[in-house]
Amino acid sequence: MLSYRHAFHAGNHADVLKHLTLSLTLDYYCQKDKPFWYIDTHAGSGFYRLNSAEAQKNREFDAGIQPIWQAAEIPACASRYIDLIRQANPDNTLKHYPGSPWLAAQLLRKTDALHLFELHPADYQHLHKQLGDDKRVRINKQDGLTGLIGLLPPTPRRAVTLIDPSYELKTDYTLVIETLLKAYKRFATGTYLLWYPVIDRQRVQQMSRKLQASQIPDILQIELCPQEDSNKLGMTGSGMFVINPPWVLGKQMQELLPWMVEHMNTGAARYTLQQISPEKT
Ligand SMILES: C[S@@+](CC[C@H](N)C(=O)[O-])C[C@H]1O[C@@H](n2cnc3c(N)ncnc32)[C@H](O)[C@@H]1O
Repeated sequence: MLSYRHAFHAGNHADVLKHLTLSLTLDYYCQKDKPFWYIDTHAGSGFYRLNSAEAQKNREFDAGIQPIWQAAEIPACASRYIDLIRQANPDNTLKHYPGSPWLAAQLLRKTDALHLFELHPADYQHLHKQLGDDKRVRINKQDGLTGLIGLLPPTPRRAVTLIDPSYELKTDYTLVIETLLKAYKRFATGTYLLWYPVIDRQRVQQMSRKLQASQIPDILQIELCPQEDSNKLGMTGSGMFVINPPWVLGKQMQELLPWMVEHMNTGAARYTLQQISPEKT
């Protein structure tokens, strides 16, 4: 049975990195006058109350969205995301943090569609309450990785997929890469965003090596670590592997990552932005 609940972590530094990357990608896809699908394999509950007992337990948002959303200077490319955070908090006090499905639902157009997967019964129910009435949205209480493969290739031949598991099981690290490679085989022109935690650096390196060996030509790695690597501290940072990133994404992150590091203010915060080059054969 699943024990992970995203409500404990809503709005933390990993959410900020993931949702900035996601909103920039979706914004880019919306620039072309052709519909696309947004597929979220691990959707969560969609919208979080930051005064809930779960969110208050460790107040992870204090070192994530809190110092970011009211920063004195907001880079232009972060403004769409920050506007959505303001929309979720209309009285200018941070009370809510939106999840990936809610953010995507605001960014997508009438002609686009959202395919969401969530297995936890309570989170599924909450997600349904949030977005169930939206005609563009399909919510599936089904394994998201299997569900993804079943949807590909997408009918409109354009799709952005977010793969955002909880990595509760060590086998998840292998499974997500296997699924990603299968998905790419079925639909090589889509954009795939795979989120990962930095808990044990070796696991990230293994994922990276498998992606290099896949010979997929265009993969961007974006990582933000508020703390130094350590195998004893839990999650010290997080990152995204983005297959077929929008061509502007690297440049945008080049501007956003130092800004985020500055506002993390932990002394040890650092970032990585690099292309994963295919292994020489
Ligand atoms: C990290 S959270 C998702 C957060 C969300 N993507 C966001 O950015 O707001 C991971 C979610 O995946 C759900 N989950 C775990 N295993 C799953 C599976 N095999 N298929 C679909 N959902 C799953 C968990 O219940 C949890 O809500």
